[in-house]
Amino acid sequence: DPPAKGHHFLHIDDFSKEELWAMLQTSIKVKEALKSGDNSYKPFAGLSMAMIFTKPSMRTRVSFETGFFKLGGHAIYLGPDTIQIGKREATKDIARVLCRYNDVIMARLFAHEDILELAQYSSSPVVNGLTDYNHPCQIMADALTIIEQKGRIEGTKVVYVGDGNNIVHSWIRLAAKFDFEFVCACPEGYEPDPATVALVNEGGAGKVMVSHNPLEAVKGADVVYTDVWASMGQKEEADLRKQKFQGFQVNEEMMAAAGPEALFLHCLPAERGIECTDGVVEGPQSVVFQEAENRMHAQNGILLHCLGRA
Ligand code: CP
Ligand code: NVA
Repeated sequence: DPPAKGHHFLHIDDFSKEELWAMLQTSIKVKEALKSGDNSYKPFAGLSMAMIFTKPSMRTRVSFETGFFKLGGHAIYLGPDTIQIGKREATKDIARVLCRYNDVIMARLFAHEDILELAQYSSSPVVNGLTDYNHPCQIMADALTIIEQKGRIEGTKVVYVGDGNNIVHSWIRLAAKFDFEFVCACPEGYEPDPATVALVNEGGAGKVMVSHNPLEAVKGADVVYTDVWASMGQKEEADLRKQKFQGFQVNEEMMAAAGPEALFLHCLPAERGIECTDGVVEGPQSVVFQEAENRMHAQNGILLHCLGRA
């Protein structure tokens, strides 16, 4: 059920294409205002946001906290030792208490079911700051970056090289709404969730493919994207994954196969020398820091729409 006081943002495709487009347009407008030095727009004045983190973060924590503050609101950081989702008290109790103090709850969690439960019991909007399953705010920032760089997202070819993880699931769900081609090139055994792939290929706007041949897959790409091979919660698999992912590093050879027009994106943090090279991150095709900055602007747009203040 939608919350009494707005809309949750749990998955990109919880929203229509028109709503997503409106969020992106709002993000662009607010970004322009903030970058021009105009600090007069305070739509979040008097509002507070609780931010629950059970995993580490730099971008998500700082971009949410700073973005909300810049627009007049107050954000509260609740780290892994504070709330202890499901350990110190039941998730449904946490939801029903926090929404009585706060106008919005942002959460970065392990189990996706936990954010669904928070949303089920919260009368304030719940915004997903990453779960094991997805990372919708990141992919909205990525879409914003591609629109700024290429003028469009529809009609593009986005090739993700690496692990079929939470980032990939949000990319696939974006393709449910926008007409572009998304290819996930991953080693066998590291594919994205098949039900999520099916969701798009049975009636989504775009097209999703899974490949095991990255050098072939990146040909003609507008965007080459990668992420860590071992996500938070999988770090003990890092050594095994380094063997399994041989040939999947986004290096100079991979970017050459993609061609000079391809942008390089990475959600960060990056492990240089593992899933990508230092040369690619620092190279002329890389827009990773514009992408990181856009986390804040994209989330301002998302929050304005979720809170009905756009
Ligand atoms: N990209 C991203 O979500 O970064 P953090 O883990 O630092 O928040
Ligand atoms: N897939 C990564 C993304 C980090 C922003 C993780 O879950 O650790």
